[in-house]
Amino acid sequence: MIESTVSGGVCVLRLNAPPVNTITFALLDELVAAVRRACAEPRVRGIILTGRPDHFSAGADLALFRDLSNAEEAVRASRVFQEAFQAVEDSAKPVAAAVAGRVMGSALELAMACHYRVCDKAARFSMPEVTLGINPGGGGTQRLPRLVGAEEALGMLLTGDAVDARRACVTGLMDAVCAGDDLVESARALLQSAAAPRRTSGRTDRLNGAADEAAFRSAPERLAGVRPEIIAPRIILEAVRTGLKESFRAGLRKEQEGFAECMGTPAARNKIYLFFAARQAGKIPALPAGPAADITRAAVIGMGSMGTGIAQAFITCGIRVAVLDQDDAALRKGADRIRSSIRGRVEQGDLKPEAAEGILGLLSTTADWEQVADAPLVVEAVFEETAVKRAVIGRIEAACGDGTIIATNTSTISLDVLAAGLRRPERLVGMHFFNPAHHMPLVEVIRRDATADSVVAAALGFVKSIRKTPVLVRNREGFLVNRLFIPYLKEAFWLLEEGADAPAIDGAMVEFGFPMGPLTLVDMAGLDVLVLTDRVLSRAFPAHGLLSQVAVRLVERGCLGQKSGAGVYRYEKGDRTPYPSAETAQVIAEVQQAAGRAPRPVGKDEITRRLVLRMVNEAFYVMEEGVAQRESDLDVALVLGTGFPDFRGGVLRYARDLGLGNVRADLDRLAEEHGARFSPCRHLREMEGVR
Ligand code: NAI
Repeated sequence: MIESTVSGGVCVLRLNAPPVNTITFALLDELVAAVRRACAEPRVRGIILTGRPDHFSAGADLALFRDLSNAEEAVRASRVFQEAFQAVEDSAKPVAAAVAGRVMGSALELAMACHYRVCDKAARFSMPEVTLGINPGGGGTQRLPRLVGAEEALGMLLTGDAVDARRACVTGLMDAVCAGDDLVESARALLQSAAAPRRTSGRTDRLNGAADEAAFRSAPERLAGVRPEIIAPRIILEAVRTGLKESFRAGLRKEQEGFAECMGTPAARNKIYLFFAARQAGKIPALPAGPAADITRAAVIGMGSMGTGIAQAFITCGIRVAVLDQDDAALRKGADRIRSSIRGRVEQGDLKPEAAEGILGLLSTTADWEQVADAPLVVEAVFEETAVKRAVIGRIEAACGDGTIIATNTSTISLDVLAAGLRRPERLVGMHFFNPAHHMPLVEVIRRDATADSVVAAALGFVKSIRKTPVLVRNREGFLVNRLFIPYLKEAFWLLEEGADAPAIDGAMVEFGFPMGPLTLVDMAGLDVLVLTDRVLSRAFPAHGLLSQVAVRLVERGCLGQKSGAGVYRYEKGDRTPYPSAETAQVIAEVQQAAGRAPRPVGKDEITRRLVLRMVNEAFYVMEEGVAQRESDLDVALVLGTGFPDFRGGVLRYARDLGLGNVRADLDRLAEEHGARFSPCRHLREMEGVR
């Protein structure tokens, strides 16, 4: 796991734990032993700790944390990391870290325990533990502020955001950036100019009483919006403060205790569960793991909102893309949007100008089918109309080679319908991106029974290669995310019709943990889109019931949401703030009158229960039908696709936390009051009481 070579008086310790040099307890043991051996070796004057030339280490093996079963084990795990890194810092001979790639979490903690640090130009540094609901447990809350000052450290520790090599040098996190391409040589030079160990725990040169105080004073503001279920930011702040106000040792103790406290919260457990769920979602046990087809070129047909986002997602990840549209104006508009979005990242300092131009150079637009003929993957993103899509898919098949994968981005049309009439229907697969496609991390990969295994495997591999999370879904109306989410949105309109206030409905869901409420979201996406999508779903699943007349009538009156200035809420020109709408109030009153129903007060608990359990119920149907491979696939899809709160672990994990017996009883009650859409499926009845 650690290769040791000595030359020119320097011992180079190279992490070699494929594939990504994750840090395990065993690796820590080897590391400590290797440093001791190097220190005992008279011909060694200095030590260089490094990894692969392009990648140092992925940080701690998270499976270690997932398997912790109590607070003592958590404290012990944190202590093992702290002591190993301390042993590196205590080395009598100077140690330089030579790092590359994404240096995150424990990998950065290890680098910070070295005496000197040099990095590759493209390296990026972050402490992402907070995003998993935990604090760094290997001394990161102590060494980072001593290297970069409290303000910069808190910025990194409380957001998990990455900094690049240039910034790392300015702030003091790194001592040098390697000018050429030999990191280890740069580290040698660093060791030559700096003979003695320089221990991070004893450094005070970057600490600045007044500035640090100001950082601590403003920290509570940063924490104000954090949910009570998530304690890591508070723990991080306390650990940094203790370390700087009392001592390094006291800070380390606080870090251990805090780590155990965080690991004891359901929020951290759920986030770690989702981390593993996301990694598993793209794997299919039945498919032999072969080398994924290396797709570096693609074509996109249709440059509307989705095609544009998809093309941007592709080129950003180095995939050369030709986009074809029948409408010249759409091509121009789409290309302009991509250019301004990518150049905007240059202005924000996210991207170098040359890199941005390199990315844009991968994009071409065309109206000529010849230009897409040699693409190994063609994504269809034209109008959501069966006839249009069938014609386009047929055209792709005619224009391209036998090996081409045809991926449709349809959100509602069955792939069986789209495959009919194709000569090679086994090459058709669904790639359902979410809007905006260059931003949203989830892609549902939809397989028909007849889709070839190799096509499914290539689609999953491709989605991973563009740094998105693929979830494999069986071809069934609504696929996975819309199948659960449309009923949830529909329930919000039923609540509105019965007498609940729109802000109360939205507020309840925000309090539950969604980034925005269902009615605000429908206003953003368009009420007409809801009506169209529901048409397909309620035909396939009659038990879902009809869409509330409130939504139907709003659409009839042209209240489509933000795009028309009015939806459930009213909007002022150029302002997306939702204001109460007199028109909606009138529509609701008319609908109530027509149904002969008086409005009734609807409490927050009922709103939350009905909305969430509607999704939960549908989730069990989806599992029963085999639409998703695993419960954890469904959980990760709903979190990434809809913003279901990650600290609750996803829809099914949440249901299991409530207790399946309780869920069943609640659903039975709701079914009695509101109808068959709440009736639990056989799968859930059989699972009652099982955890
Ligand atoms: P859009 O209406 O914005 O764009 C469609 C584009 O396809 C237009 O530029 C049009 O000129 C082009 N087009 C139509 N027929 C064509 C043909 N025969 N040959 C070449 N180009 C043609 O539609 P949008 O919203 O981008 O949706 C595209 C697909 O993505 C639809 O299937 C939709 O259901 C699906 N989808 C949409 C989402 C959304 O939020 N808008 C989310 C996920 C999927």
